[in-house]
Amino acid sequence: MLLVSHSRSGSTRAIVDALAAGAADDAIDGVVVRDLDALEATVEDVCAADLVVLATPENFGYMSGALKYFLDAVYHPLLDGGVRRPYQLVVKAGNDGSGAVRAVERIVRGLSWPAARPPLIVVGDVTDADREIAAELGMALAASLEMGLL
Ligand SMILES: Cc1cc2nc3c(=O)[nH]c(=O)nc-3n(C[C@H](O)[C@H](O)[C@H](O)COP(=O)(O)O)c2cc1C
Repeated sequence: MLLVSHSRSGSTRAIVDALAAGAADDAIDGVVVRDLDALEATVEDVCAADLVVLATPENFGYMSGALKYFLDAVYHPLLDGGVRRPYQLVVKAGNDGSGAVRAVERIVRGLSWPAARPPLIVVGDVTDADREIAAELGMALAASLEMGLL
């Protein structure tokens, strides 16, 4: 499971950490979680993954510049190579999130990537309940990978 994210003030990071902790649950065997910054992740990282989690804050009604930088870099190599991966979108927003969801979905649609689950959108301060939901999502995604469902 490849996690690609970027966080300036830490709240997207908190959600990704919770998701990663859920994915690493002891109940799940054989799923390796790689957690990379969007400014570092490469085409090779995507090719090596069975599932890509894309996590971004919503900035100015769009995804973060860092996630856009990642998608700009990998889009054509992945498209030309026919590399399709299920993805999970996570958006951390102050009060909305829909613009970032639309922006990412438009791009991954171009890659014909199927969504593993509907986007997780976390709005406002990150609460324990948000962390729990993210951990459950991480565990569910890892369990699906373990069972070969993704
Ligand atoms: C420059 C900037 C633009 C933002 N634009 C939006 C926005 O359009 N919609 C929204 O809901 N929140 C917006 N926010 C709030 C962030 O999405 C929110 O603070 C988020 O938790 C930041 O994530 P981070 O802590 O991982 O950096 C914006 C924040 C900043 C700094």
